[in-house]
Amino acid sequence: MAKTPPVIAIDGPSGSGKGAITQRIAETLGFHILDSGAIYRLIGLAGRKHDVDLEDEAALIELARQLDIAFKATGYAEDPLSIWLEGEDVTRKIRTDEAGVDASKIAPLSGVREAIKQLQRSFRRDPGLVADGRDMGTVVFTDADVKIFLTASAEARAQRRYKQLIDKDISVSLHALFTSIRKRDERDTTRAVAPLIPASDAVIIDSTSLDIDEVFNQVLTIVKGKLD
Ligand code: DC
Repeated sequence: MAKTPPVIAIDGPSGSGKGAITQRIAETLGFHILDSGAIYRLIGLAGRKHDVDLEDEAALIELARQLDIAFKATGYAEDPLSIWLEGEDVTRKIRTDEAGVDASKIAPLSGVREAIKQLQRSFRRDPGLVADGRDMGTVVFTDADVKIFLTASAEARAQRRYKQLIDKDISVSLHALFTSIRKRDERDTTRAVAPLIPASDAVIIDSTSLDIDEVFNQVLTIVKGKLD
C-alpha cells in the first residue's frame, strides 16, 4: 500500500522564526511548503477585492470554498514561493500589516477554518510537506510525523520584527510593535476555535536566546530522528 507522504508541522506565534525554519527545513529535505497563514491573508485580500464584509462569515465561507490561489516556486532561496490570487501576483500585498490584521479577524471564524481544511491537506504530497501555522499539529495534520512548537518571548519577537523593518528603512516604534504582538498573542491563544497551543505530542523549542542556525540545527536533528 502507498505510504502517506510525511508531514512536519511547525506551529507557533508570529515572530518565532517559523517561516524561516520552515523554508530551510523544506529546502534541506526537498519537501513542499504549506504557508497556512498566507491562506487566511488571501481570504482577506479576496474579501476586500470583492467587497465582502470581513465580519460576514457566510460570505467568507463561500469565498474560501472558491478561492483561486496558487503558490509557485520562484527558484530563489530567499523567497522560494510567489503567491497568486485570481491570476494576480500578490506575494508582497499579503505581507502588509493591513493584510495581517484582516487575517487575524478572519482566523477565529470556525466555518472559514473548516472550509479550508481540505485545501490545506491537499498540500500533502510526495516526498513530504513542511506545514507552517498555528494549528498544523493540533487540527489540520493531527497525524503529522513531526510536530514542533516554536516560541520566543514577546520582547524577543518584537525586537526581531523591529530589526527587519529598520533594515528595510521602515520607521516603526519598538513599543508599538511589542504592544501589537501582545494583543495578537492574546487573540490567538484565547480564541475558542483552534487556539494557538502546542499539540500534546509537540516538541517545544523556545528560541528567545537562540539564533536561527541554532534553531535550525535543533529542528533538523529532531526531524532526522523521527523520519529516519
Ligand atoms: O502567520 P501569519 O502572520 O501569516 O498568520 C496570519 C493570521 O492567521 C494570524 O492572525 C494567525 C492566523 N493563522 C491561524 O489562525 N491559523 C493558521 N494555521 C495560520 C495562521
